[in-house]
Amino acid sequence: MGLGALTPLPGSPQVAYRAGSLALDGCDVADLAARFGTPLYAYSRTAMLAALSAYQQALEGRDHLICYAVKANSSLAVLQTFARAGCGFDIVSSGELERVLAAGAEPSKVVFSGVGKTRAEMRQALAVGVMCFNVESEAELDALSAVAVQSGHTARISLRVNPDVDPKTHPYISTGLKGNKFGIGHERAVAVYAHAASLPGLEVVGIDCHIGSQITDIAPYLDAVDRVLDLVEAVEASGARLHHLDLGGGLGITYTDEQPPSAADLIGALLQRIDARGHGHRRLMFEPGRSLVGNAGLLVTEVLYLKPAHDAGGKNFCIVDAAMNDLMRPAMYEAWMGIVPCRLRADPPVTCDVVGPVCESGDWLGRDRALAVQPGDHLAVLSAGAYGMSMASNYNTRGRAAEVMVSGDQVWLIRERETPADLFRHEHLLPAQS
Ligand code: LLP
Repeated sequence: MGLGALTPLPGSPQVAYRAGSLALDGCDVADLAARFGTPLYAYSRTAMLAALSAYQQALEGRDHLICYAVKANSSLAVLQTFARAGCGFDIVSSGELERVLAAGAEPSKVVFSGVGKTRAEMRQALAVGVMCFNVESEAELDALSAVAVQSGHTARISLRVNPDVDPKTHPYISTGLKGNKFGIGHERAVAVYAHAASLPGLEVVGIDCHIGSQITDIAPYLDAVDRVLDLVEAVEASGARLHHLDLGGGLGITYTDEQPPSAADLIGALLQRIDARGHGHRRLMFEPGRSLVGNAGLLVTEVLYLKPAHDAGGKNFCIVDAAMNDLMRPAMYEAWMGIVPCRLRADPPVTCDVVGPVCESGDWLGRDRALAVQPGDHLAVLSAGAYGMSMASNYNTRGRAAEVMVSGDQVWLIRERETPADLFRHEHLLPAQS
């Protein structure tokens, strides 16, 4: 990376060096840090909308719905951005339901996933009229039918089937293999569909699967769709009608040198298979999360101290003001995320671990990174738009970061930094005489 060059970084064309300064869309990232403070999440609306439109274009002319997986980044302005662009939502809790409604979503474009929906959540989702429940067990089917009958509604359902394919991703984020808690075993699915059809509060409308996350290969998707289509054929042979196929989310992004298929290539391959097997007339649904927001976001942090190897038992540390509570992915999955300076220096780089202030050895953002930085400089963690802010915690009584959305040279503050008072607002001291 030479000073002065225009150098795009892996992941998104909206993240690039201009004359040695990191830019997000049309905004200088170090200027954003100076204006809003750090740690700071910054997102490019342009990048989010481009990612969504890749899915929408690949499905043009087909009956389809993209349901953004809210868990990837549930900030209201992100949800609003997608709602305005015609997107639906995949939710997993009443909290996410409240969020999408607050952001302007149409309930008729919301699907409700998750293995542990409570009866209260079912009641609320029925009352607002969500499009479909993705049901993950027989016990949940019975509970949902009972809640629907009690509240005078009919619950539209699809069964989340577990196709038992290996998505070849991190074990914590693979969900479609036998032996994990998700979905209904494909060998049980026909019987469970028959049971669903017999229950009074339910209307069977579709079938659903989701095999994992950060998938960088098309093959597991094709295996899964084959299994799903086998089931559709078996279920329909027994008289039911499945109007939609929901093929879940999971498409990976580039953090370092991964080369995931584009949404267009993935969907093209799936459509070819679906058409070849005579299922092209069905409504198609997808639940992408990471691939819509991941590459659109940065976590910006300030370098607090450099702790050289002779002070720290042989390792150089770069101590920054963002920590594992802001971005859990490295600590939780040993995830590799790119870390770059917001202004390039001509000094020779030093290999160091980038760590936060939290009192855990697991509190690191990157290990063995070659960086030329000084205290007071800003660094950006790349591709942090997905599962960054949405997984943030208040560990060490650290307020969660502020967030900004940018588009061209426009900037909007979309979440204020949490203050200590925010953090203990709901707590109570014991009474004086206790
Ligand atoms: N649909 C369902 C039912 C899901 O469980 C998920 C993600 C998605 C859709 C969206 O998957 P995506 O397109 O984002 O891969 N915290 C982890 C990722 C957990 C994914 C959980 N489920 C991480 O930081 O890598």
